[in-house]
Amino acid sequence: LSHSSAFSKEAPATIHSLHESKKQRHVLSIGDLDDATWRHVIDSAIIYKKAGVPSKPIASGKSLGLVFLNPSLRTRTSMELAAQRLGANVTTLTPGQDAWQLAFGDGVVMDGVEAEHVRDAFAVLSRYVDALGVRVFASGTDHEKDVADVMMKEIADAATVPVINLESAMHHPCQALADAAVMADHFDGKAAGKKFVLTWTHHPKALPMAVPNSALLAAARSGMHVTVARPDSHVLESSVMDTASTLAETHGGSVMESSDMDAAIEGADVVYAKAWGGPMTYTDPEKEASLRTSLSDWRVTAEHMASTRNGRFMHCLPVRRNVVVDDAVLDGPQAMHIDQAEYRLHAQQALLEHVFDC
Ligand code: CP
Repeated sequence: LSHSSAFSKEAPATIHSLHESKKQRHVLSIGDLDDATWRHVIDSAIIYKKAGVPSKPIASGKSLGLVFLNPSLRTRTSMELAAQRLGANVTTLTPGQDAWQLAFGDGVVMDGVEAEHVRDAFAVLSRYVDALGVRVFASGTDHEKDVADVMMKEIADAATVPVINLESAMHHPCQALADAAVMADHFDGKAAGKKFVLTWTHHPKALPMAVPNSALLAAARSGMHVTVARPDSHVLESSVMDTASTLAETHGGSVMESSDMDAAIEGADVVYAKAWGGPMTYTDPEKEASLRTSLSDWRVTAEHMASTRNGRFMHCLPVRRNVVVDDAVLDGPQAMHIDQAEYRLHAQQALLEHVFDC
Protein backbone atom coordinates (compact mmCIF):
# COMPACT_ATOMS: atom_id res chain seq x y z
CA LEU A 1 0.00 0.00 0.00
CA SER A 2 1.21 3.50 -0.73
CA HIS A 3 0.49 6.14 1.87
CA SER A 4 -2.15 7.76 -0.35
CA SER A 5 -3.80 4.47 -1.29
CA ALA A 6 -4.35 3.77 2.41
CA PHE A 7 -6.96 6.52 2.21
CA SER A 8 -8.46 5.53 -1.15
CA LYS A 9 -12.01 4.22 -1.53
CA GLU A 10 -10.76 0.91 -2.92
CA ALA A 11 -8.61 0.22 0.14
CA PRO A 12 -10.15 1.68 3.30
CA ALA A 13 -7.55 2.49 5.93
CA THR A 14 -7.31 0.61 9.18
CA ILE A 15 -4.89 1.55 11.93
CA HIS A 16 -2.85 -1.50 10.93
CA SER A 17 -2.77 -0.84 7.19
CA LEU A 18 -1.84 2.82 7.63
CA HIS A 19 0.92 1.86 10.04
CA GLU A 20 2.28 -0.89 7.82
CA SER A 21 2.16 1.35 4.78
CA LYS A 22 4.95 3.46 6.23
CA LYS A 23 7.42 0.59 6.67
CA GLN A 24 9.83 1.26 3.88
CA ARG A 25 13.13 2.63 2.70
CA HIS A 26 15.50 2.89 5.62
CA VAL A 27 18.63 4.84 4.67
CA LEU A 28 21.25 3.22 6.89
CA SER A 29 24.11 3.49 4.41
CA ILE A 30 24.55 4.77 0.87
CA GLY A 31 24.02 1.18 -0.21
CA ASP A 32 20.33 1.71 0.56
CA LEU A 33 20.13 4.22 -2.30
CA ASP A 34 20.17 2.76 -5.80
CA ASP A 35 22.33 4.50 -8.39
CA ALA A 36 19.46 6.54 -9.84
CA THR A 37 18.40 7.77 -6.38
CA TRP A 38 21.98 8.50 -5.32
CA ARG A 39 22.46 10.57 -8.49
CA HIS A 40 19.08 12.27 -8.14
CA VAL A 41 19.70 13.30 -4.51
CA ILE A 42 23.10 14.76 -5.42
CA ASP A 43 21.72 16.63 -8.44
CA SER A 44 18.81 17.94 -6.33
CA ALA A 45 21.22 19.06 -3.60
CA ILE A 46 23.13 21.14 -6.15
CA ILE A 47 19.86 22.65 -7.38
CA TYR A 48 18.82 23.41 -3.78
CA LYS A 49 22.22 25.03 -3.17
CA LYS A 50 21.61 27.38 -6.08
CA ALA A 51 17.84 27.89 -5.66
CA GLY A 52 17.49 27.79 -1.86
CA VAL A 53 14.13 27.14 -0.21
CA PRO A 54 11.52 25.37 -2.40
CA SER A 55 8.79 27.71 -3.62
CA LYS A 56 6.12 25.31 -2.26
CA PRO A 57 6.16 23.48 1.11
CA ILE A 58 6.21 20.10 -0.66
CA ALA A 59 6.37 18.11 2.58
CA SER A 60 3.58 20.02 4.29
CA GLY A 61 1.73 17.66 6.64
CA LYS A 62 4.74 15.32 6.99
CA SER A 63 6.62 14.99 10.23
CA LEU A 64 10.18 14.02 11.10
CA GLY A 65 11.46 12.78 14.46
CA LEU A 66 15.16 13.14 15.25
CA VAL A 67 16.80 11.13 18.02
CA PHE A 68 20.37 11.98 19.01
CA LEU A 69 22.04 9.52 21.36
CA ASN A 70 25.28 11.48 20.79
CA PRO A 71 26.12 15.18 20.34
CA SER A 72 25.87 17.05 17.06
CA LEU A 73 26.13 20.57 15.69
CA ARG A 74 25.80 20.17 11.91
CA THR A 75 23.61 17.10 11.58
CA ARG A 76 20.99 18.24 14.06
CA THR A 77 20.78 21.82 12.79
CA SER A 78 20.85 20.97 9.09
CA MET A 79 18.34 18.13 9.45
CA GLU A 80 15.87 20.28 11.40
CA LEU A 81 16.19 23.12 8.90
CA ALA A 82 16.02 20.82 5.87
CA ALA A 83 12.70 19.42 7.12
CA GLN A 84 11.37 22.91 7.91
CA ARG A 85 12.39 24.21 4.46
CA LEU A 86 10.26 21.46 2.91
CA GLY A 87 7.32 22.44 5.13
CA ALA A 88 7.54 19.37 7.41
CA ASN A 89 7.20 19.39 11.18
CA VAL A 90 10.23 18.24 13.12
CA THR A 91 10.81 17.22 16.71
CA THR A 92 14.18 16.37 18.25
CA LEU A 93 14.92 14.17 21.26
CA THR A 94 18.17 13.61 23.13
CA PRO A 95 17.75 10.46 25.27
CA GLY A 96 19.31 10.84 28.68
CA GLN A 97 18.71 14.60 28.60
CA ASP A 98 15.17 15.46 27.52
CA ALA A 99 13.95 11.90 26.92
CA TRP A 100 14.40 8.57 28.71
CA GLN A 101 17.76 6.88 28.50
CA LEU A 102 17.51 3.92 26.12
CA ALA A 103 18.36 0.24 26.63
CA PHE A 104 19.37 -2.08 23.77
CA GLY A 105 19.46 -5.81 23.29
CA ASP A 106 17.41 -8.95 23.78
CA GLY A 107 16.46 -10.02 27.28
CA VAL A 108 18.12 -7.08 28.98
CA VAL A 109 17.09 -6.67 32.63
CA MET A 110 16.42 -2.97 32.85
CA ASP A 111 17.30 -2.31 36.46
CA GLY A 112 19.92 0.36 35.65
CA VAL A 113 19.71 3.95 34.42
CA GLU A 114 17.93 3.06 31.15
CA ALA A 115 14.18 3.56 31.63
CA GLU A 116 12.99 2.68 28.11
CA HIS A 117 13.96 0.05 25.54
CA VAL A 118 14.66 1.08 21.95
CA ARG A 119 12.11 -1.51 20.83
CA ASP A 120 9.31 0.39 22.57
CA ALA A 121 10.65 3.90 21.98
CA PHE A 122 10.98 3.55 18.20
CA ALA A 123 7.73 1.62 17.81
CA VAL A 124 5.95 4.48 19.56
CA LEU A 125 7.75 7.28 17.70
CA SER A 126 6.83 5.54 14.44
CA ARG A 127 3.17 6.07 15.31
CA TYR A 128 3.77 9.86 15.52
CA VAL A 129 6.01 10.68 12.57
CA ASP A 130 6.50 9.81 8.90
CA ALA A 131 10.26 9.31 9.17
CA LEU A 132 12.97 9.16 11.82
CA GLY A 133 16.58 10.30 11.89
CA VAL A 134 18.83 8.60 14.42
CA ARG A 135 22.38 9.08 15.63
CA VAL A 136 23.96 6.26 17.61
CA PHE A 137 27.75 6.02 17.65
CA ALA A 138 29.96 2.95 17.90
CA SER A 139 30.41 1.25 21.26
CA GLY A 140 34.17 1.45 20.71
CA THR A 141 34.58 -1.75 22.72
CA ASP A 142 32.70 -4.51 20.86
CA HIS A 143 34.23 -4.86 17.39
CA GLU A 144 31.83 -7.47 16.07
CA LYS A 145 28.82 -5.47 17.22
CA ASP A 146 30.13 -2.20 15.79
CA VAL A 147 31.11 -3.68 12.40
CA ALA A 148 27.63 -5.19 12.12
CA ASP A 149 26.10 -1.81 13.11
CA VAL A 150 23.95 -3.71 15.60
CA MET A 151 22.57 -0.72 17.53
CA MET A 152 21.37 1.12 14.41
CA LYS A 153 19.89 -2.12 13.04
CA GLU A 154 18.04 -2.76 16.29
CA ILE A 155 16.50 0.71 16.04
CA ALA A 156 15.63 0.26 12.36
CA ASP A 157 14.00 -3.10 13.15
CA ALA A 158 11.87 -1.49 15.87
CA ALA A 159 10.77 1.42 13.68
CA THR A 160 7.91 1.05 11.24
CA VAL A 161 8.69 4.25 9.33
CA PRO A 162 11.86 4.96 7.32
CA VAL A 163 14.94 5.52 9.46
CA ILE A 164 17.70 7.80 8.23
CA ASN A 165 21.08 7.05 9.77
CA LEU A 166 22.53 10.29 11.17
CA GLU A 167 25.79 8.49 12.02
CA SER A 168 26.15 5.00 13.37
CA ALA A 169 29.14 2.82 14.13
CA MET A 170 29.93 2.22 10.46
CA HIS A 171 28.05 4.70 8.29
CA HIS A 172 27.15 8.37 7.92
CA PRO A 173 25.15 8.45 4.66
CA CYS A 174 24.09 12.09 5.02
CA GLN A 175 27.74 13.10 5.26
CA ALA A 176 28.52 10.91 2.23
CA LEU A 177 25.78 12.57 0.18
CA ALA A 178 26.97 16.06 1.13
CA ASP A 179 30.58 15.10 0.36
CA ALA A 180 29.66 13.73 -3.07
CA ALA A 181 27.46 16.75 -3.81
CA VAL A 182 30.01 19.40 -2.85
CA MET A 183 32.62 17.64 -5.01
CA ALA A 184 30.18 17.27 -7.92
CA ASP A 185 29.46 21.00 -7.65
CA HIS A 186 33.12 22.00 -7.31
CA PHE A 187 34.20 19.87 -10.27
CA ASP A 188 31.19 20.95 -12.33
CA GLY A 189 29.80 17.42 -12.45
CA LYS A 190 33.17 15.91 -13.36
CA ALA A 191 34.43 14.47 -10.08
CA ALA A 192 34.93 11.09 -11.79
CA GLY A 193 38.60 10.50 -12.56
CA LYS A 194 39.85 13.06 -10.01
CA LYS A 195 42.41 12.04 -7.40
CA PHE A 196 40.82 11.81 -3.93
CA VAL A 197 43.08 11.22 -0.93
CA LEU A 198 41.48 10.18 2.33
CA THR A 199 44.23 10.70 4.85
CA TRP A 200 44.33 9.46 8.43
CA THR A 201 45.40 12.13 10.88
CA HIS A 202 46.60 12.28 14.43
CA HIS A 203 43.95 12.92 17.11
CA PRO A 204 43.91 12.78 20.91
CA LYS A 205 41.07 10.22 20.78
CA ALA A 206 40.52 6.95 18.92
CA LEU A 207 37.56 8.05 16.81
CA PRO A 208 35.00 5.74 15.16
CA MET A 209 35.01 4.82 11.50
CA ALA A 210 31.65 6.00 10.18
CA VAL A 211 32.97 9.14 8.51
CA PRO A 212 36.10 7.70 6.86
CA ASN A 213 34.03 4.74 5.67
CA SER A 214 31.38 7.05 4.21
CA ALA A 215 33.87 9.47 2.64
CA LEU A 216 35.67 6.54 1.01
CA LEU A 217 32.44 5.03 -0.31
CA ALA A 218 31.18 8.41 -1.57
CA ALA A 219 34.39 9.10 -3.48
CA ALA A 220 34.43 5.57 -4.89
CA ARG A 221 30.82 5.85 -6.01
CA SER A 222 31.69 9.19 -7.62
CA GLY A 223 34.19 7.32 -9.83
CA MET A 224 37.26 8.97 -8.31
CA HIS A 225 40.75 7.52 -8.03
CA VAL A 226 40.96 7.09 -4.28
CA THR A 227 44.03 6.67 -2.11
CA VAL A 228 43.56 5.85 1.56
CA ALA A 229 46.70 7.14 3.30
CA ARG A 230 47.09 5.64 6.76
CA PRO A 231 49.73 4.18 9.03
CA ASP A 232 49.83 0.38 8.85
CA SER A 233 48.43 0.35 12.40
CA HIS A 234 45.26 2.21 11.35
CA VAL A 235 43.75 0.41 8.37
CA LEU A 236 40.04 0.63 7.59
CA GLU A 237 37.85 -2.47 7.75
CA SER A 238 38.66 -4.82 4.87
CA SER A 239 34.94 -5.28 4.14
CA VAL A 240 34.58 -1.52 3.57
CA MET A 241 37.75 -1.39 1.46
CA ASP A 242 36.38 -4.24 -0.68
CA THR A 243 33.01 -2.53 -1.14
CA ALA A 244 34.76 0.71 -2.06
CA SER A 245 36.95 -1.06 -4.66
CA THR A 246 33.91 -2.66 -6.26
CA LEU A 247 32.02 0.65 -6.29
CA ALA A 248 34.99 2.51 -7.74
CA GLU A 249 35.52 -0.07 -10.49
CA THR A 250 31.81 0.06 -11.37
CA HIS A 251 32.00 3.83 -11.75
CA GLY A 252 35.36 4.03 -13.56
CA GLY A 253 37.55 4.81 -10.55
CA SER A 254 39.97 2.91 -8.35
CA VAL A 255 41.01 2.44 -4.72
CA MET A 256 44.53 1.98 -3.34
CA GLU A 257 46.23 2.30 0.03
CA SER A 258 49.43 4.01 1.07
CA SER A 259 51.34 4.38 4.32
CA ASP A 260 53.17 7.48 3.00
CA MET A 261 50.99 10.51 3.65
CA ASP A 262 53.26 13.04 1.87
CA ALA A 263 53.58 10.96 -1.31
CA ALA A 264 49.87 10.12 -1.35
CA ILE A 265 48.80 13.77 -1.20
CA GLU A 266 51.05 14.88 -4.09
CA GLY A 267 48.95 15.75 -7.12
CA ALA A 268 45.63 15.27 -5.27
CA ASP A 269 42.47 17.06 -6.38
CA VAL A 270 40.90 16.52 -2.96
CA VAL A 271 42.54 15.93 0.42
CA TYR A 272 40.00 14.60 2.94
CA ALA A 273 41.42 14.48 6.46
CA LYS A 274 39.98 12.26 9.16
CA ALA A 275 41.19 10.55 12.31
CA TRP A 276 40.04 7.06 13.22
CA GLY A 277 41.00 4.45 15.77
CA GLY A 278 40.90 1.35 13.59
CA PRO A 279 40.67 -2.32 14.59
CA MET A 280 43.48 -2.10 17.19
CA THR A 281 41.21 0.15 19.29
CA TYR A 282 39.26 -3.01 20.08
CA THR A 283 42.07 -5.55 20.38
CA ASP A 284 44.77 -3.52 22.14
CA PRO A 285 43.57 0.00 23.03
CA GLU A 286 46.72 0.86 25.00
CA LYS A 287 48.99 0.00 22.07
CA GLU A 288 46.72 1.92 19.69
CA ALA A 289 46.86 4.99 21.95
CA SER A 290 50.62 4.83 22.23
CA LEU A 291 51.05 4.42 18.46
CA ARG A 292 48.63 7.26 17.78
CA THR A 293 50.60 9.56 20.12
CA SER A 294 53.77 8.81 18.17
CA LEU A 295 52.07 9.74 14.87
CA SER A 296 51.47 13.46 15.53
CA ASP A 297 53.21 14.36 12.25
CA TRP A 298 50.17 12.95 10.40
CA ARG A 299 48.71 16.47 10.18
CA VAL A 300 47.69 18.27 6.99
CA THR A 301 49.88 21.32 6.41
CA ALA A 302 50.10 24.16 3.90
CA GLU A 303 53.07 22.32 2.35
CA HIS A 304 50.87 19.31 1.74
CA MET A 305 48.23 21.45 0.04
CA ALA A 306 50.92 23.17 -2.08
CA SER A 307 51.93 19.74 -3.42
CA THR A 308 48.40 19.07 -4.73
CA ARG A 309 46.94 19.97 -8.12
CA ASN A 310 45.33 23.08 -6.58
CA GLY A 311 43.37 20.52 -4.57
CA ARG A 312 40.58 21.22 -2.12
CA PHE A 313 40.76 20.41 1.59
CA MET A 314 37.77 18.60 3.09
CA HIS A 315 36.83 17.57 6.61
CA CYS A 316 33.44 16.56 8.01
CA LEU A 317 33.90 18.78 11.10
CA PRO A 318 34.24 19.25 14.00
CA VAL A 319 37.99 19.50 13.49
CA ARG A 320 40.83 19.99 15.95
CA ARG A 321 42.88 22.84 14.56
CA ASN A 322 46.66 22.36 14.50
CA VAL A 323 46.24 18.71 15.49
CA VAL A 324 44.42 17.30 12.46
CA VAL A 325 45.14 20.19 10.09
CA ASP A 326 46.93 23.52 10.34
CA ASP A 327 45.16 26.88 10.58
CA ALA A 328 46.89 27.88 7.33
CA VAL A 329 44.95 25.18 5.47
CA LEU A 330 41.56 25.75 7.14
CA ASP A 331 41.82 29.52 6.67
CA GLY A 332 43.44 29.29 3.23
CA PRO A 333 42.08 29.42 -0.32
CA GLN A 334 41.99 25.65 -0.85
CA ALA A 335 39.69 24.93 2.09
CA MET A 336 36.28 23.54 1.13
CA HIS A 337 35.10 22.30 4.54
CA ILE A 338 32.60 25.12 5.12
CA ASP A 339 30.98 24.56 1.70
CA GLN A 340 30.99 20.85 2.56
CA ALA A 341 29.14 21.55 5.81
CA GLU A 342 26.65 23.79 3.99
CA TYR A 343 25.94 20.92 1.60
CA ARG A 344 24.64 18.87 4.55
CA LEU A 345 21.55 21.09 4.46
CA HIS A 346 21.00 20.81 0.70
CA ALA A 347 21.72 17.08 0.51
CA GLN A 348 19.41 16.27 3.43
CA GLN A 349 16.67 18.43 1.95
CA ALA A 350 16.94 16.33 -1.21
CA LEU A 351 17.14 13.10 0.79
CA LEU A 352 14.03 13.97 2.82
CA GLU A 353 12.17 14.69 -0.40
CA HIS A 354 13.01 11.14 -1.46
CA VAL A 355 12.18 9.58 1.93
CA PHE A 356 8.90 11.47 2.28
CA ASP A 357 8.16 10.59 -1.35
CA CYS A 358 6.99 14.13 -2.07
N1 CP B 1 29.92 16.11 10.45
C1 CP B 1 28.97 15.95 11.40
O1 CP B 1 28.20 14.98 11.40
O2 CP B 1 28.90 16.98 12.29
P1 CP B 1 28.12 16.91 13.69
O3 CP B 1 28.74 15.79 14.48
O4 CP B 1 28.29 18.26 14.31
O5 CP B 1 26.68 16.61 13.39
